[in-house]
Amino acid sequence: MGMDGIVSSSNGPGLSPGRIATAFSRALDLARAYEGATAPNPPVGCVVLDAAGNEVGAGAHRRAGLPHAEAEVITAAQLAGVAGWIDTVVVTLEPCNHHGRTPPCVDAILATGARQVWIGCRDPNPRVGGGGAERLRAAGRKVDFLSGLAHPAAAMLHADAARLLAPFSRLVSTGLPFITIKQAISAAGSMVPPAGQKTFTSQSALELAHRLRRRADAILTGSGTVLADDPQFTVRLVPDHPGKQRQLVILDRRDRVPAAYLDAATQRGFLVHCSRDVAEALAGLGAAGAMEVLVEAGPTLTGSMLAAGLWDEHVLIEQGASPDGTDRVTVRRNPAHPFQ
Ligand SMILES: NC(=O)c1ccc[n+]([C@@H]2O[C@H](COP(=O)([O-])OP(=O)(O)OC[C@H]3O[C@@H](n4cnc5c(N)ncnc54)[C@H](OP(=O)(O)O)[C@@H]3O)[C@@H](O)[C@H]2O)c1
Repeated sequence: MGMDGIVSSSNGPGLSPGRIATAFSRALDLARAYEGATAPNPPVGCVVLDAAGNEVGAGAHRRAGLPHAEAEVITAAQLAGVAGWIDTVVVTLEPCNHHGRTPPCVDAILATGARQVWIGCRDPNPRVGGGGAERLRAAGRKVDFLSGLAHPAAAMLHADAARLLAPFSRLVSTGLPFITIKQAISAAGSMVPPAGQKTFTSQSALELAHRLRRRADAILTGSGTVLADDPQFTVRLVPDHPGKQRQLVILDRRDRVPAAYLDAATQRGFLVHCSRDVAEALAGLGAAGAMEVLVEAGPTLTGSMLAAGLWDEHVLIEQGASPDGTDRVTVRRNPAHPFQ
């Protein structure tokens, strides 16, 4: 390996694995800032480097209808007059090779002199999978995948990239949203707060709940929770994505939820629906392009969805269960629904 992280290689261009790993880490951070803002598109981050490994530009896909990450970064570099420096493109998702609402990102990359493209995950969309990498290769660019990066952090970075993509992946491959169940359990082992209280968890656990809401496109709850707590379900403890509108679906087979609650939720900005069937509710959310649904319900609905395997990620908050007496947070993934 030479100076400045450049690998001397007889088979073409190449920065050191360490430089590529750092670039992926940064691209993932950039993308994560928009988790929950991009549906029905995935959050994607991109970093472009010069031949010495210096960053020429970096950015992320911010919202459907706005440019994809690669196009955003390359256009900014062109406007700044530095696009000619681009040698390596590092992107968390395979560049698209089709015309959607925006032109193909492969064209944007091919308009630069980039010699190498590093890709975090294959595009899971069965309608477009594979095309981007193959077209870049056919045009003479070297294309590599994060899964093949020879660096100790590569497996973790790849797992992070796959997790970031999981809600999109789930939606395009099944038509259903990624389901996150948030469940808080008191020291006494109950999900139900003491009389007169809406919660029993710490401030940091409440903030976690608001971060989970922030990345969700929809909230799913049961009539029991609405009647007991009159919950707002808005993102308040962390900054929300500007202009974000979420769906709120209430399971209410007996029509117990008053119209005044539905009106107030609409006023708070939700698209509100009542439903009598969980599967139907999930299918409707998927058809509307919701990539992630957060279940914030009481023991009845939470228990039935967990028992039916209707979940992808289960975020369990146990009051005071950490060794230091703070709330313990455990995130489980459904082994029946592996990521990419
Ligand atoms: N600790 C926590 O994480 C947490 C979170 C939220 C709420 N809570 C607490 O939970 C308590 C309320 O408990 P809960 O069990 O009554 O609330 P819930 O699970 O939110 O709502 C239960 C109601 O939802 C409907 N429902 C449930 N499962 C369904 C299914 N599979 N299909 C269709 N409809 C279904 C039923 O109403 P219908 O028969 O009318 O359809 C059922 O009575 C409150 O005290 C609240 O504070 C705790």
